[in-house]
Amino acid sequence: MSRTPPPVPAEHLPALLAALPKAELHIHIEGSLEPEMSFALARRNGITLPYADVESLRRAYAFGSLQAFLDLYYQGAGVLLKEEDFYDLARAYLARAATENVVRAEIFFDPQTHTARGVALDTVMRGLTRACDDARRDLGISSALILCFLRHLSEREAFETLEAALPWRDAFIGVGLDSSELGHPPEKFARVFARCRELGLHIVAHAGEEGPPAYIWGALDVLRAERIDHGVQAVHDAALMQRLAQERIPLTVCPLSNQKLQVFPDLARHSLPRLLAGGLCATVNSDDPAYFGGYVNANFQAVFAATGLDSAAAYQLAANSFEASFADAALKQQWLDKLQAAFERAHDAGS
Ligand code: ADE
Ligand code: ZN
Repeated sequence: MSRTPPPVPAEHLPALLAALPKAELHIHIEGSLEPEMSFALARRNGITLPYADVESLRRAYAFGSLQAFLDLYYQGAGVLLKEEDFYDLARAYLARAATENVVRAEIFFDPQTHTARGVALDTVMRGLTRACDDARRDLGISSALILCFLRHLSEREAFETLEAALPWRDAFIGVGLDSSELGHPPEKFARVFARCRELGLHIVAHAGEEGPPAYIWGALDVLRAERIDHGVQAVHDAALMQRLAQERIPLTVCPLSNQKLQVFPDLARHSLPRLLAGGLCATVNSDDPAYFGGYVNANFQAVFAATGLDSAAAYQLAANSFEASFADAALKQQWLDKLQAAFERAHDAGS
């Protein structure tokens, strides 16, 4: 049941955004690899990085496009070799997310990035699933994994990856599509996603990040995506906006990623306010927080500061994140109750 949130004055908005219980639905675990951890894992695995120190690696994180970022991101994943590396990576992300009041994380992982380097899928899955289990027990954070296919690779390679992942079928809740968008439309993976649907997997897909609205239509009609990752280009197509709003297809928006990859000329021109005004189920997420300058709360703070969104938008975004998650209904209701309580506390503090 949706309730009207009590208003919170603007000066209390930063504290409210930090305190909001929220679900993070667009986080690539490989994109949470902080430079400090890169160096620690490189040392542990006897790898020499092509950077003198943490600061020079961080300085290299300047991208003009999605492809420029991806080149560095795939290179960065080279330090992940052992089960313990995947465990430490996911555990660090979940610990950080818990401090930001993330109550649910649906985490993308890119098996092909690892199997292409000779790392066994079992190694990846053991590390990630153990981290999720431990974080649920120790930190009370609910999480689930989503296996992503790299769209710059072939349909055949996606099928091989799916086949190899079947022994782990119960360890992930869905599949996604990521990597270089332009030139790799959703239609390329129609048959793989049809098979995934037969297997009862949830379907999500990156679309409309750098690519045109046509890719969002393709993700919906051909892949039958239940959520669109990014989708920020939808504002250029009125019929698409209407459909996304009517069907309550969630968009997992990542403001700092869009800023860093120059999807918008600046954050003040981000389409998030237009998506919310159009009645879409938009959410705020971090994408690749180690590369884009902030975790989910930094994304909330930055986009609210730049666009002037208010406390009603904060409520809507957090409520949307629960609606959009693949968690069960009872958990969603608990999180909505928590959200209401956070608003009441913030309202009382401000009155
Ligand atoms: N893989 C990791 N981050 C991504 C992004 N923002 N878009 C596409 N693929 C990605
Ligand atoms: Zn992404």
